[in-house]
Amino acid sequence: MTEKNPNRMWGGRFALSPADLMVEINASIGFDKVLAPQDVRGSKAHAAMLAEQGIITKADAREILRGLDQVQAEIEAGRFAFSEKLEDIHLNIESRLTEIVGPAGGRLHTARSRNDQVALDFRLYVRDALDAFDGALMHLQLALARKADTHADTIMPGFTHLQPAQPVTFGHHLLAYVEMFGRDRGRFADARSRMNESPLGSAALAGTSFPIDRQMTAAALGFDRPTANSLDGVSDRDFALETLSAAAISAMHLSRLAEEIVIWMTPQFGFITLSDRWTTGSSIMPQKRNPDAAELCRAKVGRIAGAFQGLLLVMKGLPLTYAKDMQEDKETTFDALRSFAVAVAATRGMIEDMEPKADAMRAAAGRGYSTATDLADWLVRTLKLPFREAHHVTGTIVKLAETRGVSLENLPLEAMQGVEKRITADVFSVLSVENSVRSRTSFGGTAPQNVRKMARAWIKRLEKRPGKG
Ligand code: ARG
Repeated sequence: MTEKNPNRMWGGRFALSPADLMVEINASIGFDKVLAPQDVRGSKAHAAMLAEQGIITKADAREILRGLDQVQAEIEAGRFAFSEKLEDIHLNIESRLTEIVGPAGGRLHTARSRNDQVALDFRLYVRDALDAFDGALMHLQLALARKADTHADTIMPGFTHLQPAQPVTFGHHLLAYVEMFGRDRGRFADARSRMNESPLGSAALAGTSFPIDRQMTAAALGFDRPTANSLDGVSDRDFALETLSAAAISAMHLSRLAEEIVIWMTPQFGFITLSDRWTTGSSIMPQKRNPDAAELCRAKVGRIAGAFQGLLLVMKGLPLTYAKDMQEDKETTFDALRSFAVAVAATRGMIEDMEPKADAMRAAAGRGYSTATDLADWLVRTLKLPFREAHHVTGTIVKLAETRGVSLENLPLEAMQGVEKRITADVFSVLSVENSVRSRTSFGGTAPQNVRKMARAWIKRLEKRPGKG
């Protein structure tokens, strides 16, 4: 329990060691060790700046850089002994550095606090994730656009209320998601540009009396500029919140697509197949093929939105500046960002793997009187009926077809004329699903020629401007 072994980092003021539970609740090394690469990057930039400004000697800086390289190599090789007593990744690395290079290691923390250090590391980590997301979403868009181009005229039912509404093409449906993921990338890019300021040099909270050069460290770490207020620099976490909220929205899009994959794969729909690579079997029911990957992609939004809510509640009501509450920002954020990356990659895998069953889609598109709107439009165009009246006439004809158990296409002309005597045989030209989709040529509509054009424009754009990751 409380033996005489004070923490070496602040042992000067402390006579006793912390209680075991104090060590346990305080330690973050179990999860913040993933920040090691960012911590080393930040420390190297800081050390180089300290030497440049004459705050430490060039010789000390050289020793520090050499020691940090060794620390990094040990961590990468799995040879680093992480210690809970040393709380977090920052103290673990600094302590090992000092073992390796001696007193020079103790100079690294000049003009720096763990408060600006952790703010920096976390920001670098989130920024790395944002860059990876951009690339991953770009590849997902490309997979969708390519499949859309191949299936620009593969007819499927379009739904509202999950009831057959109007025929569309499979390509058109896939391109809807390309649009969504495009907006998601825009949200991530916005978050990145707003967060790209370096908090390093804010020190504990008030800045420092050492003649540091914050522009230099900011530039070395790829930031646009240093943060302008030291209090804000150490205590801002809205960059993580903004990223998580954008990730939650994008995960919601992934979830909708995943749900469609699940529905399309049911024998009742039978719209697509996924190969053995993207499905699982059942240990008891030999006939089963389950869309587990899609189900998990459907679910991930739960933990991502949960991480957003969690961090929002941690930050709510926290007085400026740093408080240890903020250590709770990391575990769920890391988990959410990893989950999002996996879900995007898995969705891309499923899209590339997926094969539509054109015949089943085509047959389903013809069911449910899906060309009723085309009939109403024909009445408006040809007989100049007001749309409301055309809607009523069409409804009566649909009811008649339903009673006779036939599709609109197969309802005899005389039967339609019984409802509206001016209808002519020309009406049959709009009642097939092929003619229906072909006629939707308005900008953004489902006509195959539109879809092919859109798909190719996306492919060109995406191939020309690949993502960052
Ligand atoms: N492990 C801490 C965190 O994640 C680092 C900052 C600690 N700062 C402090 N003043 N105790 O927030």
